[in-house]
Amino acid sequence: MRRACLLVLTTAVTFSACRRADPKPGSSPHVLETIAHAQEPNSNAGLSSEKHLDGAPRVTVAGYPDRPAFSALQRTKVMQQYPCQKCHTKTLDVLRAQSQVAVAQGKKASHWNVKLVHAPAVTMDCWTCHDQKNLDALRTLRDAPVSLDHSYQVCAQCHSRQAADWAGGAHGKRQGGWAPPRVVASCAGCHNPHKPKLEPRWPAMAGRRDLRFESAEPQTESPGANR
Ligand code: HEC
Ligand code: HEC
Ligand code: HEC
Ligand code: HEC
Repeated sequence: MRRACLLVLTTAVTFSACRRADPKPGSSPHVLETIAHAQEPNSNAGLSSEKHLDGAPRVTVAGYPDRPAFSALQRTKVMQQYPCQKCHTKTLDVLRAQSQVAVAQGKKASHWNVKLVHAPAVTMDCWTCHDQKNLDALRTLRDAPVSLDHSYQVCAQCHSRQAADWAGGAHGKRQGGWAPPRVVASCAGCHNPHKPKLEPRWPAMAGRRDLRFESAEPQTESPGANR
């Protein structure tokens, strides 16, 4: 009797374990259905930001192995004085002497627009970031070369918190759209490395144009009217 009871019980348990439970309304679907659904073609797959990126030149960001791969806009494509070797084939002493002559003649010095307003002078000079042996590259504090396209690596040495936020997407700006590929602005795309602090400014709408001043008709209104 006891053995028969046990048999009935085991059979019942076995059958109920094998039977697929009908999902009750509101309950989560069976795991096999979830798997089948996940394997169906995804109607969102294939979305791409590429058409909004307009073929923007970019480099793959290095140094964040725990992050899915992403890219940063390439800086050397937009830098005005790159390659530096256009002038820096001579030693600095020679260049400085030439520069003095040119300035005495009333010309502008080559780097008249570079004035370091960043960290205190005891902490930082040109050679904290630029490589004295190769002006076309930057260097880390431990003297490892860094390409100007990967200047974020130089910034990240001292601003590690902002750099981690940037790699995660909380600091900076994504280009194109939210669909892959992920392309972001490099630090130097927003911060001038020689004067990186952003000054406070009044809120204004991006790209706002005052069409009145672009019309072919002569202006009759005084500027600032109807604002
Ligand atoms: C048009 C020529 C020209 C180009 C291009 C140029 N430089 Fe120079 N650079 C000079 C001259 C001339 C000097 C000598 C000092 C001066 O004129 O201020 C100089 C000096 C420097 C110095 C030393 C500044 C000092 O006062 O000690 C640094 C750093 C430097 N350049 C970085 C660069 C980097 C980085 C690039 C490329 C991204 C570059 N330069 C491209 C002409 C040039
Ligand atoms: C905090 C790091 C840092 C320091 C310090 C620094 N630079 Fe630079 N510099 C950069 C980076 C990064 C770039 C590339 C900027 C970009 O991507 O547009 C650059 C670009 C330049 C350029 C090329 C600008 C252009 O638009 O083509 C010149 C010239 C230059 N630096 C000169 C100097 C001189 C001279 C000094 C010292 C007075 C100096 N830098 C100090 C990081 C630095
Ligand atoms: C060797 C260390 C060092 C490097 C490399 C460096 N910075 Fe800085 N940065 C500093 C220090 C120090 C200050 C000044 C902080 C202060 O005055 O409170 C500063 C200030 C700043 C500020 C202003 C912060 C504020 O309070 O508004 C910005 C933005 C900035 N750096 C961005 C950059 C960027 C972008 C780069 C790379 C091109 C860079 N830094 C590279 C050390 C560094
Ligand atoms: C899309 C533009 C953009 C990019 C890219 C960007 N920043 Fe900033 N950054 C800002 C703005 C805007 C602020 C806020 C300025 C303020 O509040 O006064 C800021 C603030 C900072 C500050 C001041 C302290 C703070 O957190 O407010 C530092 C330091 C800094 N950024 C470093 C970096 C570094 C390093 C990178 C690259 C790894 C970077 N930024 C990339 C726009 C940018």
